[in-house]
Amino acid sequence: MTKESLSAQLLNWYQQNGRSLPWRHKGGAHPDPYTVLVSEFMLQQTGVKTVIPYFQKFMERFPQIEDLANATQEEVYLYWQGLGYYSRARALHATAQKIVHELLGSFPQNRKDVLKLKGIGPYTASSFLALAFNKAETVIDGNVIRVICRMYHLTQPITEIMDEIYQKASQLTDQKSPADYASAIMDLGAMICTPKNPQCLLCPWQKSCQSTGKTDLEKIPQKAKLAKKERQGSVYIIRNGKGEIFIRKRTEKGLLAGLYEFPWCEEGQICMEALPQDSGKKVTHVFSHFKLILSIYFVNTEKQLTNGFFIPEAKLANYPFSTLMKKVYNKIKAP
Ligand code: ADE
Repeated sequence: MTKESLSAQLLNWYQQNGRSLPWRHKGGAHPDPYTVLVSEFMLQQTGVKTVIPYFQKFMERFPQIEDLANATQEEVYLYWQGLGYYSRARALHATAQKIVHELLGSFPQNRKDVLKLKGIGPYTASSFLALAFNKAETVIDGNVIRVICRMYHLTQPITEIMDEIYQKASQLTDQKSPADYASAIMDLGAMICTPKNPQCLLCPWQKSCQSTGKTDLEKIPQKAKLAKKERQGSVYIIRNGKGEIFIRKRTEKGLLAGLYEFPWCEEGQICMEALPQDSGKKVTHVFSHFKLILSIYFVNTEKQLTNGFFIPEAKLANYPFSTLMKKVYNKIKAP
C-alpha cells in the first residue's frame, strides 16, 4: 500500500473515530497556538486523562497568553500543583513572557526559532508546529512509537532504534494535513494500537501492519527498563503550641524548585536538631531518575525556626506543594 493511501485511511478513520480533547481542533491547524503550547507542555510527561482537568482549570484562569505572562510564578505553580515536573511550569511561564514581551505576542513558526523557547525540545517543537501551524513535522510520542514499531515489527529496545523509528514515522507523515495526521496517529496508538489487547480488527492499517497476528505483538515496543535508584530520608511535621505547622519554600533551582514543603532531608544529612518522634509512617515517591522513601517524624517546638514560617493548618491550601508533600500530609491525616 502506498504511503498516500495509508495516510488517507488513517485520516478517514480519525474523522470518524478521533477523540474529542479540550485542546483539540479537528480539520487543520488549531486557531489558537497558545492552547497548543499549554497542552503540549502538560502532555510532555503526563497522560491525557490526568492532563484534562488541569488543562481546563489552567485555561480558565489564564485564557490568553498575556494572562499567563503577567501572573506570578507562585500562582502558575498553584495551577500546576499535582502535575509534577515543575520545571515545565517554570519554562512555560518564561516562554509565555518571552512571546508576549519580546516577540510582541507573535508565536515563532519555524523550527529554529521554536527551539529557542524554554522547555521546548525537538519532540515538543514538532508537535507544536504540526498542531498549531499545520507544518509537515513528524510527531513522536509513546503512542506513535508503539504504532511505528508494530507496523514495521521493530523489536529492538527503542532506545537503540530511535533514529529508525523517527525515519519511518517521518516517511508516513502526511504532507497536506500534518496537524490532523499528528492527532490521528496519536489516537491510533491510544485507542486501537494499545499496549495490551490491541484492537487490530478495527485498525485502518491492519493490512499493512507487520505485527498483526504475531505472538510477540504485545511485547512491542521493547522498553529498556532501568531500575530506579532508591534514596531514603526524613520529613518533619513541626507544630508549635498554637497548633500551627511549619513550612518552607524551596529555592528557585533544582528539584521541585520554588514549591513549599515540610522540612526534609536525605539520609546522612541533619536537618532537625529537636528530638523528633517517629510516626511509624513512610511515603514513597518516584521521580524521573530516582525513588525517594521518606520516614515521617513529628516535632513539637516553641522555638523560632529559620528558613520558613508557621501557618495555621487551614491555610496550607494557599501554598503550592509538591505531590510528594501532599502525600506526606495525607499520610499523617489518614487514620
Ligand atoms: N501527547 C502529546 N501531545 C498530545 C496531544 N496533542 N494529544 C494527545 N496526546 C498527546
